[in-house]
Amino acid sequence: ALKIATIGGGSSYTPELIEGYIKRKDELPIKEIWLVDIEAGKEKLETVGAMAKRMVKAAGLDWEVHLTLDRRAALKDADFVSTQFRVGLLDARIKDERIPLSHGVLGQETNGAGGMFKAFRTIPVILGIIEDMKELCPDAWLVNFTNPAGMVTEAAIKHGGWKKTAGLCNVPIGHRKQAAEKLGIPEDDLFFKFAGINHFHWHRVWDKQGNERTQELIDLIYGPQEDSESHLKNIHNAPFHYEQIKDLGMLPCGYHRYYYIEDEMLKHSIEEFEKGETRAQVVKETEARLFELYKDPNLDYKPKELEQRGGTHYSDAACELIASIHNDKRTDMVVSTENNGTITDLPYDCVVEVSGPVTAHGHEPYNWGAFPPAARGIIQVMKGMEETVIRAAIDGDYGAALHAFTINPLVPGGAMAKTLLDELLIAHKDHLPNF
Ligand code: NAD
Ligand code: G6P
Ligand code: MN
Repeated sequence: ALKIATIGGGSSYTPELIEGYIKRKDELPIKEIWLVDIEAGKEKLETVGAMAKRMVKAAGLDWEVHLTLDRRAALKDADFVSTQFRVGLLDARIKDERIPLSHGVLGQETNGAGGMFKAFRTIPVILGIIEDMKELCPDAWLVNFTNPAGMVTEAAIKHGGWKKTAGLCNVPIGHRKQAAEKLGIPEDDLFFKFAGINHFHWHRVWDKQGNERTQELIDLIYGPQEDSESHLKNIHNAPFHYEQIKDLGMLPCGYHRYYYIEDEMLKHSIEEFEKGETRAQVVKETEARLFELYKDPNLDYKPKELEQRGGTHYSDAACELIASIHNDKRTDMVVSTENNGTITDLPYDCVVEVSGPVTAHGHEPYNWGAFPPAARGIIQVMKGMEETVIRAAIDGDYGAALHAFTINPLVPGGAMAKTLLDELLIAHKDHLPNF
C-alpha cells in the first residue's frame, strides 16, 4: 500500500492531482495521501484538503487524506513525495514579474530575473526537504513540480544527492496533444523525442510508418497562414518567425517565445504591467475564484475553472509517472533527469528534460546526441546560467548571482543586471536565508 506526500498541498492544483490518482485507482494501491503546507497556506490547505476528501469519497475510495503543517509526519515512510510549493506564494511571483518590468526588462515566473529569484528562494527549501527525507523515507521517489523545475531538480539530484528525483512539467504533454490534433493522428500512434532543459526544449515527431513529420508540423503550426497558436494559458500567443523555425528543423516549446521573439513578448508584458495585469496578478484572481468554488460543500470534482491556470494536464504527468514507476509500466514520458550523455552538448552531471520510458527504476532517456549549431550555443548558455544560479542559491554568493544575471539572455548585462539583482534581493529578503 502506498503513502504519498504532497508538499505545497494547499495549491489550487491539488484537485487535479487527486483526479489523476482516482483515474488510476486500479493501478495505484494508495492507502494514505498526506497534504502538507505551512502556516501561511493553512487556510488554503484546509479548503482544498476538504475538497480532496470529498473527491475521494465520491469515488467510493477508502484512501485516507491527511492535512498537516507537520512536514516530518507527512514524510515518515512515504513512498512518493511530490512537491508543488511556491515560496512566498503569489505575492513573491508578482514581485518577480513586476520589478524587472518596472525597469523595462522581462519579468516571468520561470525565465529571466524572476525565474532566477524563484530558484534562489526555492533551492534552500528543496534541500531541506531532502535532508528530512534522508532520515524519514530514504527509499522514496521525489517527484518535483516546483518551479523552476529544471533547476530545482538539478539541485536535488546533484547537490542534495537524491538520485531518485524526477522533475516534471505539463508543457510537453500539451505539445504532444497539439501535434496529434494538427496531424489528425492519435497521440499513441506518434513517436516523440523531446530534448533540452525545462521550459527550453525542442521536439521531433515521427509516425508509425517511421516517417518524420516534424517539418510538416512546423508548417501546420507556425506556417505563414497559421496563427502560431500557443496552447498555454499563461503565455502570450505572439507568432514565431516561421522562416527561423523552419530553419531550426525542430519544434520549439511555448517558452522559446521569450528568447526568439523577446522584443514582442516584452512589449506585451509591459502592456500587462501598465494595466496591473501581469500573469501573477491575473492568477491571483483566478485562484481566489477557485477557492470560493472549493468552499462549496457539494463540489466533489475538479471544476472547469481550473483550466484557466497554465498547469492543465499536470496530473497526467505526476500521477502517470508514479503509476509507471510503481508498475514498471514504461510509459514514454518527458522528464527532467540526469543527462548522463543523453545530450552530448551538455555536462554529464547536469539535469536535462528528455523523452524516454519510465521504469521501476526511474526514467531511462532515449539518446538524443548533439543539437544543430543554431540550438547548441543557446542551450549551453542557458545551462551554464542555471548551474551558476544553483551555485549562487546554495552559497548565497552575490558574485555568482550577478554572474548568472549577466549571462541570462533575458537580462541586459552591466549596470542593469546589478540594479535588478539588488532591488530583487531587498524585495525578497525574507525568503533568502542564504544571501
Ligand atoms: P501556490 O502559490 O498555490 O503555492 C502552493 C502552496 O505552497 C501554497 O499553499 C503555499 O503555502 C505552499 N508553500 C509555500 N512554501 C512552502 C514550504 N516551504 N513548504 C510547504 N509548502 C509551502 O502555487 P501554485 O500556483 O499552486 O503552484 C505551485 C508550484 O508548482 C509553483 O512552484 C509552480 O511554479 C509550480 N507549477 C509547476 C508546474 C510545472 O509544469 N512543473 C505546473 C504548475 C505549477
Ligand atoms: C505552465 C508551466 C508551469 C507554470 C504554469 C504557470 O503549466 O508548465 O511550469 O508554472 O504554466 O501557470 P499559471 O496559471 O500559474 O500562470
Ligand atoms: Mn512547467
